[in-house]
Amino acid sequence: MTTTHDSGTYRPPAPGRPDIRQRTLRTDRWWLPPLANALGLATFVVYATIRSLWGSAYYVEEYHYLSPFYSPCVTASCIPEASHLGQWFPALPWFLPYALVSLPFLLLFRLTCYYYRKSYYRAFWSSPPACAVAEPHTKYTGETRFPLILQNAHRYFFYVAGLISILNTYDMVLAFQSTDPATGQTSFGLGLGTLILLVNVIGLWLYTLSCHSCRHITGGRLKHFSKHPVRYRIWTGVSKLNARHMLFAWITIGTLILTDLYVMLVASGTISDLRIVN
Ligand code: FES
Repeated sequence: MTTTHDSGTYRPPAPGRPDIRQRTLRTDRWWLPPLANALGLATFVVYATIRSLWGSAYYVEEYHYLSPFYSPCVTASCIPEASHLGQWFPALPWFLPYALVSLPFLLLFRLTCYYYRKSYYRAFWSSPPACAVAEPHTKYTGETRFPLILQNAHRYFFYVAGLISILNTYDMVLAFQSTDPATGQTSFGLGLGTLILLVNVIGLWLYTLSCHSCRHITGGRLKHFSKHPVRYRIWTGVSKLNARHMLFAWITIGTLILTDLYVMLVASGTISDLRIVN
């Protein structure tokens, strides 16, 4: 039997598959989620790229606020007070970010994330555009060949992301201080910026710990949960978080942008930090 699709091109149904001539039988607005995902992801990528290369307004010395896009700040271009781990590299050309030891791994961690994969495969490659909507591609090799086979490295990026989350936590703890510019004395301090950094770090931990690789590492290979009660409890907790992984993925995109934006506005003097305890 020959099949003619909406586009007019002949495409025989795969063996054992129904011969459906329409591209989809769905009548709802199935194109809305991929469109929203494309806009959301593109906004984040553009914002994060611009800000990572901006090179200023990333640190508030008085309140120890460091933007997550600059942590750790390890080049000689960094403000010395923002270089909590020291300066490992000389001043770099403008096209390299100050946090070049963390940002590539964070990018790869998100890029290979199971949720984001689904999201951008649908949003940018229409592979497939949505459930029960035929894709335009004629060939499908999944993630079995280069370059998509590299998606399997996600579990290794998970470990690095865990270390970077510890770093972000350290930055957040430092933000519970304020330094008097006149005397140089440092004491306990709390401002709106501190709370924004705290919320961002909580979000980052929820996103990292709800990772599918984390779930697999904690209990994925166990044959008898009864023989490993501690791991079973951890796996159960991670599984509950895992069910909300998509939510955490989007929340952290929002909190990362919000945190950086707030630090930028305070650091540039555009707004003053709302102080609760000085
Ligand atoms: Fe999304 Fe690992 S971070 S699956």
